[in-house]
Amino acid sequence: MALHSTVSVQIENRVAWVSFNRPDKRNCMSPTLNREMLDVLDALEFREDVGVLVLTGEGTAFSAGMDLKEYFRDVEATGLGGVRKAQREAYGWWRRLRWYQKPTIAMVNGWCFGGAYGPLFGCDLAFAAEEAQFGLSEINWGILPGGGATKVVVDLLPMRDAMYHTLTGEMIDGKTAARWRLVNEAVPLAALKQRVREVADVLLKKNPVALKAAKDAVRRVKEMTYDNAEDYLVRAQEAANFFDNDARKEGIHQFIDQKSYRPGLGTHEARKESGERGGDV
Ligand code: COA
Repeated sequence: MALHSTVSVQIENRVAWVSFNRPDKRNCMSPTLNREMLDVLDALEFREDVGVLVLTGEGTAFSAGMDLKEYFRDVEATGLGGVRKAQREAYGWWRRLRWYQKPTIAMVNGWCFGGAYGPLFGCDLAFAAEEAQFGLSEINWGILPGGGATKVVVDLLPMRDAMYHTLTGEMIDGKTAARWRLVNEAVPLAALKQRVREVADVLLKKNPVALKAAKDAVRRVKEMTYDNAEDYLVRAQEAANFFDNDARKEGIHQFIDQKSYRPGLGTHEARKESGERGGDV
């Protein structure tokens, strides 16, 4: 993978730990960082040795949002074309995260402001340090939370909380973020990486084709009527069946034919070499 100055990557036991790496600037997102993140996501997406991607930050911040100097002031000086290009680069990698091939986890280790809500939401799951601080600080310096940030809080929070958070610019800590469901869970910073590793290990045991179909389904059906969702899910499952998905056949075989396993209670064992296979399902 090419060397990047603003993003670091470590692959450990099938988890790619991707970090915003501008700790001196509290990991705020500059155009360079946005381009490098897209490059890193591209490079990792279909690697056999990566099953889960974790996004986190070096130092005391997850990310302090957009870089007020390089993303706003410097880019605005280049005119509207430059502004639109910088927006496409930022929004582009967040969108890429939302529909990433592998499951993704945001590990919010510290400051998380404004534009950082885009990648936070882009990740399928989110775990925060209790000590982390979240804020839509835009209102504090005279803009509205753009770049999708307003959409993120409206999608994730009840309307009163979304409105309060947006209009006051007050910070909430990781515990409150978990209570508000902005993240799945908050744990003390010292235990955060271990907790995320545990969750990643759960995901690594699942079938990757099913994981991709399921994560996309959760995002897609949210905006559909019940009937449309029902139809989408039938088609999504039928499309997934075209992939080489022996795990599904084996799961049904162990449950229906062998009666050795219950899907409701956990993940089935990998197929035993000598085991009789179920028919096509
Ligand atoms: N844009 C540009 N530079 C930023 C930045 C941002 N969003 N966030 C931090 N930095 C820079 C600071 O300018 C400073 O640079 P310098 O060392 O060259 O002077 C450096 O990062 C450290 O920041 P500092 O404010 O000294 O760190 P802190 O730990 O005391 O405070 C924050 C951390 C995150 C509370 C504070 O930096 C902050 O309020 N950042 C802006 C957050 C924000 O409103 N983001 C929304 C943008 S959409």
